Amino acid sequence: MSAPLLPGGTIGILGGGQLGRMSAIAARRMGYKVKTFDPSSSACAAMVADSHTTAAWDDAKALKKFADGCGRLTLEFENIPPATVTQVNAIAPCHPSAEVLAICQNRRREKEFLKAQGIPCANFVVVSSHEELSAAVKKIGVPCVLKTADFGYDGKGQAKITDADTNLENVWEKIGDGVGVLEAWVPFQLEISVIVARTEDGKTAVYDPAENIHRNHILHLSLSPARISEATRREAQELALKIAEKIKLVGLMAVEMFVQDGRIIVNELAPRPHNSGHQTFDANQTSQFEQHVRAVCGLPLGGTQILKPSVMLNLLGDLWRNGQTPDWAMILKEPAAKLHLYDKGQASAGRKMGHITITADTLEDALKKAEALFVALSK
Ligand SMILES: Nc1ncnc2c1ncn2[C@@H]1O[C@H](COP(=O)(O)OP(=O)(O)O)[C@@H](O)[C@H]1O
Ligand SMILES: [Mg+2]
Repeated sequence: MSAPLLPGGTIGILGGGQLGRMSAIAARRMGYKVKTFDPSSSACAAMVADSHTTAAWDDAKALKKFADGCGRLTLEFENIPPATVTQVNAIAPCHPSAEVLAICQNRRREKEFLKAQGIPCANFVVVSSHEELSAAVKKIGVPCVLKTADFGYDGKGQAKITDADTNLENVWEKIGDGVGVLEAWVPFQLEISVIVARTEDGKTAVYDPAENIHRNHILHLSLSPARISEATRREAQELALKIAEKIKLVGLMAVEMFVQDGRIIVNELAPRPHNSGHQTFDANQTSQFEQHVRAVCGLPLGGTQILKPSVMLNLLGDLWRNGQTPDWAMILKEPAAKLHLYDKGQASAGRKMGHITITADTLEDALKKAEALFVALSK
C-alpha cells in the first residue's frame, strides 16, 4: 500500500472533460496541484489545471512525461485504453486500476462480472452476428435492447427491439460492432444511481441514491434523495458497496440501477464521478469530486450526508439557440440556484455544457423550481 498523497502533492487526471474539471477544482481547493492529459488541447479540465498535456492515449513518451512528478493518477473518462493506465501506473499509483476500467468500459465484461457476483441485473445474451442475435431474441423475448459492447454512452449504440418480426439483420448492421449484448427490457418505475467510494485500505463511503430522469436518453434531472422506500434505499447502498468490494475498487464509482416493483436491478457501472452526483457539490457534506480525490489519494473519506434536498438540471447545448447563450440573469436571480458552466466553447445539441443545482427545504420545492427554470430557459 502506498502512503497517502497529502495536499501539496500532484494529481494527474487522464481525460479532460467536465468530470475532470470538477475533480480538479475540488483538488485545487484542497491544495493539490493538478495535471491533465487529453487528446484535445481545448479540453475543459485543462483550463483549471496547473498543466495540460495534449497527446494520444498511446503516446508512451507523452504519458511518461505527464506521469513523472505525479503522486497519484486517476481518470475521468471511461474509454481510455487499459494499457494507458497500466503504463502510467508503473510510474505512480493510478486509481481506478486497469482491471476495474477494463470491466466497466465493456458491457460484456461488466454484465458477466455482475452475474458472476450474483448481483441482480437484466437477463442478457452476448451476440456477435445477426444469426446469434435472432437466436438471442427468441431466448430473451421482446421487448429487449441490443447494446454494443464498447463505446456506448447517453443511449448511443443501442437499439430497442419491440417486435419479434423486426428485421434483425438491419438492427445488427446498424448497432452491431463485433460484439453486442442483448438485454431483456426492464419495465422499471424509476432509475436511480448510487455513488460509492473506496480507498486502498478498504474504507468505504456511500451516498444516498439519486433519482434520475432522462430526456432523449440523456440525463435531464437528478433528484436527491430519490423518492424510494427506506428498504430500497438500504438495498441500493448495500449493492453498491458489495460491487465496490468485489471489483476491488479504489476511487469512486457510480452504480446505475432500475427500481421495478421495489426490487433493484443493476444497469451499469461507471468507475469515476457521475453526472447524477453533481448536486453533491452544493447539497452534501462532501462532493463526489472531493470524495474522488480523497479516495484516490488515500485520505480519510468525507461524510456523504445530504445537507439539503436538491435537484440537478443539466444544461445541454440545445439551450444555446442561434448562437445565443441562455439567459444567465434568469437563473442567477433564483437565490437557491447554483450555476456551473464547463467552459466548453461551442454548444451543440445534446452536449453537456453545464448544470444547475437547486436546493430547497423539500425535494418537491426544488423539483418545482427546477422544472419552472427549465421551461423558462427553453422558451
Ligand atoms: N434493459 C433495459 N430496460 C429498460 N431500459 C433500459 C435498459 N437498458 C437501458 N435502458 C434505458 O436506456 C438508458 C441508457 O442505457 P445505459 O445502459 O445506461 O447506457 P448509457 O448510459 O451508456 O447510454 C438507461 O438509463 C435506461 O433509461
Ligand atoms: Mg447509463
